[in-house]
Amino acid sequence: MKSAAVLPVIAAAEPVLGANSGQKFARPVVVSTWDSGMTANAAAWRILKAKGRAIDAVEAAARASEEEPSCCVGLEAYPDRDGYVTLDASIMDHRSNCGSVVYLQQIKHPISVARKLMETTKHVLLAGDGALQFARENGFEVMPRKLSADAEKEWKEWLKKSEYKPVINIENRKISQNEKSAPYTINGAVNHDTMGTIALDAGGDLSGACTTSGMAFKMHGRVGDSPIIGAGLFVDNKVGAATSSGVGEEVIRICGTHLIVELMRFGYSPTRACREAVRRIVDRDRAAAKEMQVGFIAISRTGEVGAFAIQSGFTYSVTNSGTSKVFASDSIFKAPPQQPGS
Ligand code: GLY
Repeated sequence: MKSAAVLPVIAAAEPVLGANSGQKFARPVVVSTWDSGMTANAAAWRILKAKGRAIDAVEAAARASEEEPSCCVGLEAYPDRDGYVTLDASIMDHRSNCGSVVYLQQIKHPISVARKLMETTKHVLLAGDGALQFARENGFEVMPRKLSADAEKEWKEWLKKSEYKPVINIENRKISQNEKSAPYTINGAVNHDTMGTIALDAGGDLSGACTTSGMAFKMHGRVGDSPIIGAGLFVDNKVGAATSSGVGEEVIRICGTHLIVELMRFGYSPTRACREAVRRIVDRDRAAAKEMQVGFIAISRTGEVGAFAIQSGFTYSVTNSGTSKVFASDSIFKAPPQQPGS
């Protein structure tokens, strides 16, 4: 095995919202992608603080994200290029049980369908019509096929050029007036394409959940990393857990979260493991990487939390009994990327 000591050193970035370079947090603790992860964390914390299980906490976190329009991951998120909102979600517990749904439509809480699959069947992943049928058979309400007003407006605007460019921030919602000075904005947008949550409960067990509508205006049928166990989410109770946000194709190529947990198994800190995963993406095609965002978060079984991203602007939220705070991730590229056309 390659020694940790020979890895290239990447310069530390200026902390933006609060520095956390490998800080250890007392359990129970929950960590979510992005500043909007505070919404997810609040739902998880209600369970964790009462000594509830990590698996219940991460499901609650993902449900909260799926309900919150500004998280951009549920039925109110942007559609694919043909106008359909297709959702992907995955969940994994401390015993390596896992469940995923992909290309699921008209269901408000794909994360709960993924959990139902995990707990009541021998399967791990259901797609499309089969996932919808499973949801319906298990009492999930099938919602009308309808875009939110904002999603419909943005999609119609996008249709004027119909350029499929799965690059950084294409899926972003516009920022509101009171967010304009927020340090985590990139060229006037907030990058919240996927909500991932990892938690360590009072009993020392880890779980994770990840939910997304995928890239806005993606090809119909496209599936990203979020529902792929080992790409967008991985948990090993003996080691740690990791999840991701950003351009899923890049995360799938390197089996990102599995890589991170395996590096942690061999002694890497969560931050260093996330940094190594990001470095592999950037090394594959540095020019392409300059145009995209991928961010990872990770937690060790002892409560050490870390993150790393390709671009500046990736944030993550940490909540435990003493902390409820958004942290800025370090990144390979320090300056905000230029938007197409900006
Ligand atoms: N990271 C979410 C996606 O690429 O679909």
